Amino acid sequence: MGLRIQADAHHHLIVPDNPIIPYIEGDGIGREIWAAAEPVIHAAVDKAFQGMKKIEFLELLFGETSFHTSDQRLEEDVLSRIREYRVAIKGPLATPVGRGIRSLDARIRQGLDLHTCIRPLRYYPPVPSPVKHPEKVDIVVFRENTEDLYAGIEWDARSDEARSLINILKSRMNCSISDTCAIGIKPISQEGTRRLVIRAVQYALDHDRASVTLMHKGDIMKYTEGGFRKWGYRAAVETFGDRVLTEEQLWSGYEGVVPQGRVVIKDRLADMMFAQMLLGPEQFDVIACPNLNGDYISDAVAAQVGGLGISPGANIGDECAVFEPTHGTAPDIAGKDMANPCAIILSGATMLDHLGWTSAAVLIRKGVAGALASGKVTRDLASNIPGGEAVSCSQFGRNIVAQIKAANL
Ligand code: NAI
Repeated sequence: MGLRIQADAHHHLIVPDNPIIPYIEGDGIGREIWAAAEPVIHAAVDKAFQGMKKIEFLELLFGETSFHTSDQRLEEDVLSRIREYRVAIKGPLATPVGRGIRSLDARIRQGLDLHTCIRPLRYYPPVPSPVKHPEKVDIVVFRENTEDLYAGIEWDARSDEARSLINILKSRMNCSISDTCAIGIKPISQEGTRRLVIRAVQYALDHDRASVTLMHKGDIMKYTEGGFRKWGYRAAVETFGDRVLTEEQLWSGYEGVVPQGRVVIKDRLADMMFAQMLLGPEQFDVIACPNLNGDYISDAVAAQVGGLGISPGANIGDECAVFEPTHGTAPDIAGKDMANPCAIILSGATMLDHLGWTSAAVLIRKGVAGALASGKVTRDLASNIPGGEAVSCSQFGRNIVAQIKAANL
């Protein structure tokens, strides 16, 4: 019998050896990629802990069915189950275009207050990449998920709301702004920044990462993005004390070599980061950023290492966390057993990291790396790899399981 994951007063997870973890298969290719992923996760846990630990997956029904019935109770039930079990994994969910229905993903993120989005991004050869040295990329992006221009506070050009706001800005705050503008508001708070940066630094410390870079545009947006920078440094120093150091301290005291068990906190302007990510990606490790910067940089780096098809993701709050691939439902190939299951499988690895089951997570990444390196890959990759041979989604999953079973611990 499985047990529920618990948490202490500081939101640290207490994970039993046999946790119950809810999953949502998702729409489109969701069923087939989950069918490939589940045995991979079991195989890695089994091997890493020699049968002493096992996840009991619990299916939650959610997706296109709930759209058509607009069943509010179903949604609430799913959210309360995820809250109850604290950790969940899901496939992609379809959002019909132009029907005024908020995306199911947004409903999960907002309903559960999943304020931090995590995107681990590294290269798996021989996945085709547009750059010469994709192997230099091994970064984890922590993106704030609830604030910034993405908070949805905006009004159409010439709307009553935009006009009223423009009047106030002109008459009371001496702003120069055209009457015909659309208006968006960019809220960034100290609390929101703090909880994001603390998570990013904790992750860096837990995973022996050398640095956390605060990515911002504080030179231009002084109070919002500049606030993110200022509050980010403050949160890191107040929370982690001498386990963090600035770049200045690194050079004045340690000749540029990060001492074991410590993390450098640095900051970079967002525009420079896009250039540096291509010219010298090895200088970045963990990146913490506001919502909009995070959206841009994570997709740009995903493309740099070979596309969104293999990119895992996670959305994490104080109470619970949901792990998911970053691609969509791929309706064009759904039901054909040809989807690439890497992203959901690697999301499973990120989930195991979150549980503290790092050795199993490492095995999954090794298994994926080994299966890709064999050249027997799903169709989306096969045609772009010299000598690549296309295998089905289910076969590719079995290949990863075989790699895990054969891997050295
Ligand atoms: P998509 O990611 O589903 O598909 C874009 C292209 O990538 C298609 O050609 C597809 O075949 C291919 N592709 C995606 N994942 C693949 C995989 N694992 N293996 C092989 N090929 C793959 O994006 P699209 O078409 O914009 O969205 C389709 C639906 O997915 C929409 O309803 C959208 O709202 C939803 N969506 C859901 C997401 C989520 O649940 N997190 C994220 C993105 C989109």
